Amino acid sequence: TRGNSQGIDLADRVELKRVAEAVAPLPFRGVTGRGDVPQGGAASDRLPLSPTLPPEGERKAITSAGENWADCATEAKAHVSRALSAFPAWDAAGIDHRAHCLDRLADLLEQERDALMRICVQEAKKTIPDALAEVREAVDFCRYYAQQARTGLQPIELPGPTGEKNVLRMKGRGVWVCIAPWNFPLAIFLGQVSAALVTGNAVVAKPAPQTPEIAAFAVGLAHGAGIPEDVLVLAAGGPDMGAALVEDSRIAGIAFTGSTATAKRIARSLLDDEERPIVPFIAETGGINAMIVDSTALPEQVVVDVVTSAFRSAGQRCSALRMLLLQEEIAERTLEMLAGAMDTLVIGDPADPRTDVGPVIDQGAYERLMGHREATRARWVKSVEVPGQGLFVPPTLIKVDRIEDVRKEWFGPLLHVTTWKAGQLAETVERVNRSGFGLTMGLHSRIARAAETVEDLATAGNLYVNRSMIGAIVGSQPFGGEGLSGTGPKAGGPHYLPRFCAERVTSTDT
Ligand code: SER
Repeated sequence: TRGNSQGIDLADRVELKRVAEAVAPLPFRGVTGRGDVPQGGAASDRLPLSPTLPPEGERKAITSAGENWADCATEAKAHVSRALSAFPAWDAAGIDHRAHCLDRLADLLEQERDALMRICVQEAKKTIPDALAEVREAVDFCRYYAQQARTGLQPIELPGPTGEKNVLRMKGRGVWVCIAPWNFPLAIFLGQVSAALVTGNAVVAKPAPQTPEIAAFAVGLAHGAGIPEDVLVLAAGGPDMGAALVEDSRIAGIAFTGSTATAKRIARSLLDDEERPIVPFIAETGGINAMIVDSTALPEQVVVDVVTSAFRSAGQRCSALRMLLLQEEIAERTLEMLAGAMDTLVIGDPADPRTDVGPVIDQGAYERLMGHREATRARWVKSVEVPGQGLFVPPTLIKVDRIEDVRKEWFGPLLHVTTWKAGQLAETVERVNRSGFGLTMGLHSRIARAAETVEDLATAGNLYVNRSMIGAIVGSQPFGGEGLSGTGPKAGGPHYLPRFCAERVTSTDT
């Protein structure tokens, strides 16, 4: 894997400027939310779409599914039937062929990088550095899973204590349904899909309703890379389409990234029908992610890492920092420095390469976040000015009395802060654990023993020490949580692919 999906260096900055110039002539679409996203405009306004995509009229038809349950159920069944018919040949095609297709897809993603970034900026309202990281992460997933498949999925001969020959083989299970979120509409979408495909499964892929275009582009590229059209089927639509796919008892597994509530609904629906096979369910959901800072931490570094973790991507990452826990002795000074740093954030048009924080994804998200913000007005420590028009949620620091006062994930640039007392590090970690979520946790401390304590006690999938808490790198920082944050296994890690496989053993008497 390239392992470079998240860092932006000087050469990148020069390159970003070039890409930004390409993006710049397009009018900024984020100001009034999803409802106003490109519906018309001059020919130069059109997004450069993959040649394999259907024309616009037909695309509209596929993206408007999800409004009518009966239509969704029929469409979902047709998608699953198509994928089922293509599964045996794909499974039989072998690991090398499938891995080669993923490598080709990675090449195509790199070739189409600027166009993909452009859609990420327009459709998902990503800032330009985030859009670049998004494409790189998608490339990393494809190359990493190709490599993992080649080395990790080969048949294994096992000991035969009574003289027999035992061989363990990894096979595809059938049709996987992959349900992706809007916040990583390319990277997570292709991460799920590429893992399911390389292990020999056919896939019905459902993108989030907010981000159908980037998914359609990616699926077009996958077909161009040699993955047959019936092996990877796009099922655009809303929650009804998702539910209809999950209800189809012919599917062999589900990979889902999204909210905890939806993950629970899927799990319930999988258990509903007594006749239906028991299938694997991989869920990656949210978190109330905390960062603990003690009095030995380097204040300047803390401030940079808090701002990055809480406010970059407008706080719309499942890894993002939601609760800052400052040791009492340093709280006042840290908050003062943090408030100063927040004033330097550039908030505005995501297509401008100088922007740090863009708008949130849609009107619903905006209203939920602004509602919570208003309700906590008396507790604001700091709130930043934002442009007057548009779905910009002001980055806000909100003081709470106790860790237990935050019991919900607020998916945006709202950071809660409270204090803890010297000598109570272990108790503080345990109080964080008791939220039931377990995705990311951060620690800033220069005491090695403190890091060991948090490492021992934290029930979080990813612990970040003396650095920011976002931007897990494929192959280096396998990502995913536990408890209310998900089922594991970790995406971009060495144990991910086997979960998509049927493991079969043949024992032959010799
Ligand atoms: N993989 C992403 C990150 O680490 C998930 O939000 O930030």
